[in-house]
Amino acid sequence: MPDQPLPIILDCDPGHDDAIAIVVAARHTDVVGITTVAGNAPLSATTRNAIIMRDLLGMSAPVHSGADRPFIRPPRHAEYVHGKSGMDGADLPEPSGPPASTDAVGYIIETCRAQEGIWLVPTGPLTNIALALRAAPDLADRIAGISLMGGGTFGNTTAAAEFNLWCDPEAADVVFSYGGPLIMAGLDLTHQFQALPPRIEMIRSLPGRLADVLAGLLDFFSGTYRSRHHGIGGAAVHDPCAVMALTHPDLFSRRPAHVEIETQGHRTAGMTVIDQRDLKEVPEANCDWLTHIQADAAWDVVVESVQHFSH
Ligand code: BDR
Ligand code: CA
Repeated sequence: MPDQPLPIILDCDPGHDDAIAIVVAARHTDVVGITTVAGNAPLSATTRNAIIMRDLLGMSAPVHSGADRPFIRPPRHAEYVHGKSGMDGADLPEPSGPPASTDAVGYIIETCRAQEGIWLVPTGPLTNIALALRAAPDLADRIAGISLMGGGTFGNTTAAAEFNLWCDPEAADVVFSYGGPLIMAGLDLTHQFQALPPRIEMIRSLPGRLADVLAGLLDFFSGTYRSRHHGIGGAAVHDPCAVMALTHPDLFSRRPAHVEIETQGHRTAGMTVIDQRDLKEVPEANCDWLTHIQADAAWDVVVESVQHFSH
């Protein structure tokens, strides 16, 4: 683990697993700010959910809302996984107030210019991050890197594409070609990290409102996974993997890889084309592709994070 908590901006679309990512980030990183994007639900819902999670954790980080739709494609949401609110399944408190601003992109640019060495951790469609990199290319040299959840060798929205990258392939293309350190927690990895019933019980057994809310969220999330997948034990808890890749790197195996985003394909838009050819002509790696997670130990990190805020 790093000596000092790493400064991050968490760019998210909560989202059940985004909520877990916020908890782990609150515990193990220095969350400079939270920015929201439309994805699992419309922007108003993802922003509301982020503020609720921030409040439940007693965090001081500001929440800034951002893009309410992808670069050029129509907005598409995942009510079939996350419910209408984006975080169905728990009795949630009202948010304490509105977001600090509606200009997440401006916030990312200003903050990363004022403080070098921030990690960007996107766990939703990459619209905000790509808009920031396009408007301020100097950010590429100012940030520590980008650790994202998205992609993989198989899809979950189409046969080829994972949801976050499928929503906004053009934005993903900007991010995957930005030129700095990039870590990819794709579906190959995140499907190894499931909210199995005994794991949910570890959270439910903790005292207080936060644990209660999270257990309800994970019950709902796992319910939708079990109803939609053949033979899955629980929901894949994707998003905290992008946080733990930074905070607990020893829990992961990784491979350098050259990854490009398909933006043209009729059936393959949003696909991460991972070049696995054993040829010298393969372009230089542009990302660290996470291939394996020690799931039990990583779940312990989630539980310990929840416990830290439970009383
Ligand atoms: C990703 O899409 C959303 O449903 C989750 O929050 C995660 O970020 C997985 O494909
Ligand atoms: Ca997400």
